[in-house]
Amino acid sequence: MEEQIKQIQKKFTDEINEISDLKSLTDLKVKYLGKKGELTIFSKQMATVEPSLRPVIGAKLTETRNLIESSIIEKEKTLQEAKLQKKLESEKIDVTLPSNKTKVGSKHPLNRVIEEIEDLFVSMGYDVVDGPELETDEFCFERLNLPKGHPARDMQDSFYITSEYLLRTQTSAVQARAMLANKDKSPIRIICPGKTYRREDDATHSHQFNQVEGLVIDEDITLAHLKGTLEVFMRKLLGEKTNLRFRPSYFPFTEPSYEVDVSCFKCAGKGCNLCKQTGWIELLGAGMVHPNVLKMNGYNPEKYGGFAFGTGLDRLAMFKYGITDMRYLYRNDIRFLSQFDQMDV
Ligand code: PHE
Repeated sequence: MEEQIKQIQKKFTDEINEISDLKSLTDLKVKYLGKKGELTIFSKQMATVEPSLRPVIGAKLTETRNLIESSIIEKEKTLQEAKLQKKLESEKIDVTLPSNKTKVGSKHPLNRVIEEIEDLFVSMGYDVVDGPELETDEFCFERLNLPKGHPARDMQDSFYITSEYLLRTQTSAVQARAMLANKDKSPIRIICPGKTYRREDDATHSHQFNQVEGLVIDEDITLAHLKGTLEVFMRKLLGEKTNLRFRPSYFPFTEPSYEVDVSCFKCAGKGCNLCKQTGWIELLGAGMVHPNVLKMNGYNPEKYGGFAFGTGLDRLAMFKYGITDMRYLYRNDIRFLSQFDQMDV
């Protein structure tokens, strides 16, 4: 009988060594220790054993049972650890692998220019203000010294929504808004970038474009301040070698008024196709704030003076980045837009 127990133990040891998964281990456990398990059946035969041998056989049986139980527990532990290890390995993240490229959008060239201008003027103590795109005739024209029926209204063909409301044709509309909003009539220093709209229908103009307006009101403001400011503005944006040329012009809300040209950055003023062989590119409208405008918007022209300027941001962005067609700016072509991320300008 002892020999048989030994046999069972050996068989068990051989079998458990072959096992490599938890399910087979459970089956093995049932096979030996279950109700009809080999060892259980053997224990039941104890009754037939000669009484004098029972203690020895009994002890042997218990020993074997304990051994089988502890082997199973140990094997179970080993298998579970192996399983966990395998899981960890299969889920391992290799941080050195190249990642799937996430597409990041790029800043629109117009916004780049706007941000650069804002940074510059904020550094000179200006505030950046906003105005409505759906504007009233009053703010877009009347408060800028352009009463109804004024011939200069023809310079800006407009989209009227009603007889009172229109899409603003110029950011100059914020001049009057800023002056009126400033209740204590203290000095003003603002810029206002934003969208503007005109009823244009030729190849080089778009019905929607962008401008930036500048307005300064204070005591003792002279044309020299305007010139100095625009020089800093244009040199910062287009290069330190840029020169400015002031040509007399007419705007109803400034007196005197100027068209301001910058020296062509492509040919440095020598003459090329970009500047149509003139060496100059027309870029800004500017002038000293008209006394009527000051008066209409609550400022005493005897005490205060000021200057204002306005420029088209689309053209500025085109010159700055060498964009040949304005329509590119509005086509949303990612191939075009993403180029500016690589440009260190
Ligand atoms: N608003 C004018 C235009 O759109 C430009 C301008 C602004 C002129 C400020 C003088 C002063 O043409």
